[in-house]
Amino acid sequence: MKIPMCTGCFNCILKTEKKCPHYESIKYINNKIDWCDAMIITSPVYSLQVSGQLKNFIDHMSYNFHRPKYFNKKALIITTTAGVDAKEISNYIKEVLTFWGINTTYKLPIVYRNAKLEIYDKQIDKVLNEVFANTGITWLIQGNDVVLKVSKTESVQQAKKTEIVGVVTDARTGEAIIGASVAIVGTTTGVITDIDGKFTINNVPSSSKTY
Ligand SMILES: Cc1cc2nc3c(=O)[nH]c(=O)nc-3n(C[C@H](O)[C@H](O)[C@H](O)COP(=O)(O)O)c2cc1C
Repeated sequence: MKIPMCTGCFNCILKTEKKCPHYESIKYINNKIDWCDAMIITSPVYSLQVSGQLKNFIDHMSYNFHRPKYFNKKALIITTTAGVDAKEISNYIKEVLTFWGINTTYKLPIVYRNAKLEIYDKQIDKVLNEVFANTGITWLIQGNDVVLKVSKTESVQQAKKTEIVGVVTDARTGEAIIGASVAIVGTTTGVITDIDGKFTINNVPSSSKTY
């Protein structure tokens, strides 16, 4: 993440984030955050704070304090420290994310002492299960690493969910048919046509067929 230091120009707050002089450097990660269901935000404790790198990123995202929009996202916060303040810094990150609109956060403050991990708050497996529930992401712990596996087919299918609209007419007369059943093949998802013979089915995987 090579982002120049925030210069405090206020463009992101007073104009739009696209007017940030460093927008080209941050737009990739901004787009990823806009797109994701859940994010992992992590930092070592450096001098009783988050790392300078993360703080600089948080400064570049500070327009979110004024225009929060991430209400449906979840976040897993992981902080590491040699001895002190892992909890305090995870609380700080949680507070920042709350201002961005993220209300569902999980904290994993980790302290390295004698090369042995100490994890406060919830147990790691409980946290990871909650964070990645229904996301198509599975995880496993290898040593001190959490390895995430993304099910591509599932996320692609989710992304391709679409809306089907149409009109049912009598093949002979061409007149609209009111109250006809239209359903997705192989599912119980279906609707009834309205008084103009029209129907709409939402959230349909793009590969579906109707009958
Ligand atoms: C510049 C710097 C400042 C640090 N400040 C603290 C601190 O204030 N408190 C603390 O317990 N550990 C501190 N540490 C230790 C780091 O928190 C620790 O190395 C890190 O969490 C472990 O991650 P790592 O394996 O990437 O080093 C500091 C380390 C560095 C390099």
